[in-house]
Amino acid sequence: MTLRFASAVTFKEHAHNGLATALWDGVFLYRLGTLLRGLCAFKEHAHNGLATALRDGVFLYRLGTLLRGLCALLIAAALQAQEAEADKLAPYYPTPESVVRRMLDLGELKASEKMFDLGSGDGRLVIAAARDFKADGTGVELDADLWKQSTDRIKKLKLEKTARVIQGDLLKQDYSSADLITVYLLPHSIDDQLTPILEKQLKKGARIVSHDFEFSKWKPVKTIDIDDDGEGRSHRIFLYRR
Ligand SMILES: C[S@@+](CC[C@H](N)C(=O)[O-])C[C@H]1O[C@@H](n2cnc3c(N)ncnc32)[C@H](O)[C@@H]1O
Repeated sequence: MTLRFASAVTFKEHAHNGLATALWDGVFLYRLGTLLRGLCAFKEHAHNGLATALRDGVFLYRLGTLLRGLCALLIAAALQAQEAEADKLAPYYPTPESVVRRMLDLGELKASEKMFDLGSGDGRLVIAAARDFKADGTGVELDADLWKQSTDRIKKLKLEKTARVIQGDLLKQDYSSADLITVYLLPHSIDDQLTPILEKQLKKGARIVSHDFEFSKWKPVKTIDIDDDGEGRSHRIFLYRR
């Protein structure tokens, strides 16, 4: 119990720290600095007369810096706006491999069935579904690095026909064909954002397995406690059926 609570707290901590956002802001500020430095140098030279300035190699070099800074700033702003559009429903915190297997077993995943992992991280659930259960797995992941990492691993394992990861917002996908949905997301994201979408989209009989956090509006068909994942952490997994 204590261990489960501790893991939930760690998970929440990651969400509150928003480390990726902070680092990204650092890069953004650095680029803004480059732009402003270029702008100051530009003004200095422009005062000396534009014709002289244009002949001046240093001026041209600084003009280049200014334009590079401007482009970097615009690209950074565009990427940041794109990420900000989608809600981050949980930070990256992978399910241990031993629990992955238990989740897919609990979800009674069968060969050729369609499973979706919502917020698929490094793709471990999708890969296990395709490789070990001969199912058809689709992950949805917002983070570009995790998307690339999972896609590369799927290719390396030659699972492209039965496994894939969509880079995008899990709140904007179609799950109407799903036989099994797996999630490891924060409780408020599950209750406020995901539940209404799944209630609208899922076909009758579709199963949902959630790691550590409940769908509080639904009654689980089965709950399993895993006291030790091999690294001393406890977990709880919930099975729901629509
Ligand atoms: C706790 S991790 C779980 C990863 C994986 N499902 C597992 O169990 O190992 C949650 C993942 O959801 C992703 N995520 C959060 N919000 C998302 C969104 N709106 N759309 C897609 N992915 C999202 C995060 O980037 C992170 O990789």
